[in-house]
Amino acid sequence: MSTPAAESVAQKVEELQVNGVAQEAKEEDEDLVTPWEVTTTKATGIDYDKLIVKFGCRKLDDDIIARFERITGHKAIPMLRRGMFFAHRDFSAILDRKEQGKPFYLYTGRGASSGSLHLGHLVPFIFTKWLQEVFDVPLIIQMTDDEKFLWKDMKVDDAKKMARENMKDIISVGFDPSKTFIFNDFDYMCPPFYENIVKIWKVVNANQARSIFGFTPEDCMGKAAFPAVEAAPCFASSFPHIFGAKGKKNDIPCLIPCAIDQDPYFRMCRDVAPRLKASKPSLIFSTFLPALQGAQTKMSASEPNTCIFLDDTAKQIKNKINKYAFSGGQQTLEEHRAKGGNCDVDISYQFLRFFLDDDEKLEEIRVKYTKGELLSGELKALAIEEVQKIVGVMAERRKTVTDATVDEFTKIRPLAFEY
Ligand code: TRP
Repeated sequence: MSTPAAESVAQKVEELQVNGVAQEAKEEDEDLVTPWEVTTTKATGIDYDKLIVKFGCRKLDDDIIARFERITGHKAIPMLRRGMFFAHRDFSAILDRKEQGKPFYLYTGRGASSGSLHLGHLVPFIFTKWLQEVFDVPLIIQMTDDEKFLWKDMKVDDAKKMARENMKDIISVGFDPSKTFIFNDFDYMCPPFYENIVKIWKVVNANQARSIFGFTPEDCMGKAAFPAVEAAPCFASSFPHIFGAKGKKNDIPCLIPCAIDQDPYFRMCRDVAPRLKASKPSLIFSTFLPALQGAQTKMSASEPNTCIFLDDTAKQIKNKINKYAFSGGQQTLEEHRAKGGNCDVDISYQFLRFFLDDDEKLEEIRVKYTKGELLSGELKALAIEEVQKIVGVMAERRKTVTDATVDEFTKIRPLAFEY
């Protein structure tokens, strides 16, 4: 059955064809990347270079990473130096501000549609936590319970509850409450935030919303209205308790670490910002953590065997990777020794690329596996160890996160920064 999002993308393809660019549409319909759906037919995953061209963002190249390292004095973490964070918009503007000691903040978010977060959800948060430590700036995390209410078959109260449960998982990544504000839309909707939403509504017409997001006339009007809610936290004036009077001018910009599928919201936001006399947000985009079964899809909470959840035990992690992680190895031992394995499609290897810090060890693994010296089972064991470590640390912290901890993060209060 095709989903509304798939239908709307089909409609977009049709529009392209009407406009005489059928060839382009045909080539691009292999990879589908929208805020609602991510698929490709290729075992090596989405073609991210093509996506950069299609979305019109920039590749995060070695030069800009070197500049980041120079300015911050921190070595880039694996996710950054190995290209899991692969693209950006105006990241250099944020580096300029860091260099000049001018204020900015980090903004990211999460739409809660499952009880527990999986490793794929955690990737942007792990990265954001690291970025926050390096930059030492406020972090704002939006929980879009309203979005889930509109898109899913969910009651308001259930959407709110789920957002709160997800906050606990997010907090377990290790954020500092004196520097981090987390809010859910239903509870936070205050006058300054709402004013920004309405201002965005006023400058984007229905045709533009449709061409950016692919909404159809049959979609409920809330869906067309929602993007402004995700865009409004890009403006500092949405948070007077954090940025005070200085924030009112909307000249404290934000950097948004997020998965590339969220780009449409911020493309829209960057487009309207000058008309609202506000700074444009900068963005830094991640690829998707592949599903256990292969890089054709990302991990999906609605299909538990495609992902590692934060509440999976060490044993479950081991079993899932052993049983489901797609292997780039050969069918038989003899064949594997003779031909070697393919790291490009091997999910255990891909996990190690995300999480294993030691570059030399990773390269050694790659070389040995490619030559057939390292077996699939051995590679899986290495991935299991690394994933168990990451999840283990967070799961331990998760045990200490209570409702009172959540209240601490969601309280309307100044953070440890003055403006
Ligand atoms: N729409 C996002 C989701 O479904 C949640 C979100 C809100 C978000 N604001 C964001 C994600 C900012 C990244 C950056 O998960």
